[in-house]
Parts: sequence; structure tokens; C-alpha cells
Amino acid sequence: MLLLKARLALELPPINKALSRAAEGLPHPVRPIARHIFEAGGKRLRPLLTILMARLLGYDKKDIYDLAVTMEMLHAATLLHDDVLDNADTRRGKPAAHTLFSATSTILAGDAMLAHANALVARCGDPRLCLCFSEATSRTAAGEILEIAAQHRVETTAEEYEEIIRGKTAWLIRASCQLGALRAGAAAAYGENIGMAFQIVDDALDFAPQSITGKPSGGDVREGKLTPPLRMYRDSLDDAARAAFDQAFNDASFTDGDAGRIADSIRAAGFDQATRMAAEGSLDKARAALASLPSGPEQDILQQMADYVRDRKK
Ligand code: IPE
Ligand code: IPE
Ligand code: MG
Ligand code: MG
Repeated sequence: MLLLKARLALELPPINKALSRAAEGLPHPVRPIARHIFEAGGKRLRPLLTILMARLLGYDKKDIYDLAVTMEMLHAATLLHDDVLDNADTRRGKPAAHTLFSATSTILAGDAMLAHANALVARCGDPRLCLCFSEATSRTAAGEILEIAAQHRVETTAEEYEEIIRGKTAWLIRASCQLGALRAGAAAAYGENIGMAFQIVDDALDFAPQSITGKPSGGDVREGKLTPPLRMYRDSLDDAARAAFDQAFNDASFTDGDAGRIADSIRAAGFDQATRMAAEGSLDKARAALASLPSGPEQDILQQMADYVRDRKK
């Protein structure tokens, strides 16, 4: 509990600052209503979850606050709507917004807030974040509708209750966590860089003897693919030889014999090994992304995967 309180105290000022920034972008008739609910208080648990998840997964940039507060803005919008639905007079120890600004204005302000929060998420440029946000919005509304349908129905089952609360409350909290994890993106960065290295090594292996790989050596020459070993080979040629190479490459006129000879030269010059070394850049990025993820046996296995990708013989 101590840890949570201390961390919340640390995060609250930047959260509230980011929330004010976000609120400034609202249309001006909406702002007094938004300010009313934001300044009334609130624990800010949802943005805190976004921040904690992002940090847990190695994301260290300050812009996480701008993403995190979109969840608080969505949450506040659902509270504005909820108090109209529940005919509740008080929220966060203050008069509920609809008692001060009218129910119609409050509902429309809530709509504008969730649309604006959506736009702020969209500015991050990652459609996965938008999908996550939209899903939380519609699931929350669906949960509130289910709850209305269940009101004053004593036959309501425990399962129906679960479905209601998963919708009206849990989805938004789930999305708060997921946004942070998506933003951290360490797993995706690991995979993308492992993938880049995997293909670069594959392009080196294209020049290994068929007896090892089971594929004809130099296939990429015949297929006209300017992979790193072939580019190194081309760069090593004198002007006349390079002109002849370019002609044959563009005309797709390399014979199997040409491909075999080029493969031999590439191996002799060590361009296939140099290509493997070039994959190290991507592998280092993958290792760094992985290091920011929680430790455990999978972390060790995924680290070994990077070495395997570098050293694989087929
Ligand atoms: C209230 O949420 C609405 C529910 C989903 C139960 P909180 O208890 O997180 O409300 P604030 O944000 O702290 O006011
Ligand atoms: C809160 O439900 C859920 C949403 C705001 C979507 P409640 O109606 O049970 O929560 P309080 O008691 O008004 O905060
Ligand atoms: Mg309520
Ligand atoms: Mg309610």
C-alpha cells in the first residue's frame, strides 16, 4: 500500500498537468463541465495503470502522460453520463455536473469528451491504441445498458451481474493497462528486430553450399534479389565488371553457372559472413527491447533465440 501511495503521489502532478493540457483542446462550451468533473477530484487510478504498465514494460518517455489521461477523460465522460442515468446528485464530493449544467448539456459534454480523448489517442499514430480505446468505450456503454435492463429484476443471475460489471467498469480498466502495454511495444520491437535479423541471415545462407542448406546456392542471384552479400559483391567489382553485372542482373540473364561462380566468390570474399555480422545491429535492438521486459525463464530463452538467429546454419 505504501508503495502505491508513494507512486501515486509522484505521478499525480504530471497526470493532472497532462489532463489540463488535454482539456484545453475541448470545444469551449464543454470546458466548464469538463473542468468541473476533473477538478472535483478522483483517484486517477486509470491513468496510473497506463503509466505503470508502460514503465513495467520498459517505456521511459514522458509522452506516456498524454496517452494515460485519455483514459481519465473517457472515464470522466462515463461518470457524467452515469450520474444522469442513475439520477445521482453528488460525484467526487461535489454536486454532479447535470445538477449544475442540465442533463442535456452534461450528456453532450460527455460525448465531446470521449470524442476528444479518442482524437488524442489517434494522434499517437498507432491504430491498435485507437481500437483499444474504442472497444473500451463501446463495452462500457453496453455494460450500462445491460445494467439498466437488469434493474429491479430479482431473477438477475450472478453471471449476468458479471457481464454487467465486466462491461461497465472492467473494460475501461483493462484498456488502461493495455494502452500502456501497447505503447511500450517492447514485445513488438523484439519481434520486428529478430525478424529483420532472421531475413538478413537467410540472405547470407543463400550462398552457403547446397549440402548444408538443402537449397541451391546463389538462388537469389538467379532470382535477381539484391541482398546484402550480392550488394557487397557488386560493390567489390571494377567498373567494367560492375557494368556487365548490372546488365545481366537487370536482364535476368544470369545462368546457373554464373550464379554458382558468384556464390563461390562471395564465400571466398567472406561477404556471407559479413552479412551475418550486419544482422548484429538488429539483434542488439532486439536484445535491448527484451531486456526491458520482465525477467524469467522466457526472457532467457528469448535472449538465446537472438543468438540462434545469428548463428543458424540452415
Ligand atoms: C467510479 O470510479 C466509477 C466506477 C467504475 C465504480 P472511481 O472510484 O475510480 O472514481 P474516481 O475517478 O476516483 O472518482
Ligand atoms: C459506474 O457504475 C460505472 C460507470 C461509470 C460506467 P456505478 O453507477 O455503479 O458507479 P458509481 O457508484 O456511480 O460511481
Ligand atoms: Mg452511478
Ligand atoms: Mg451506474
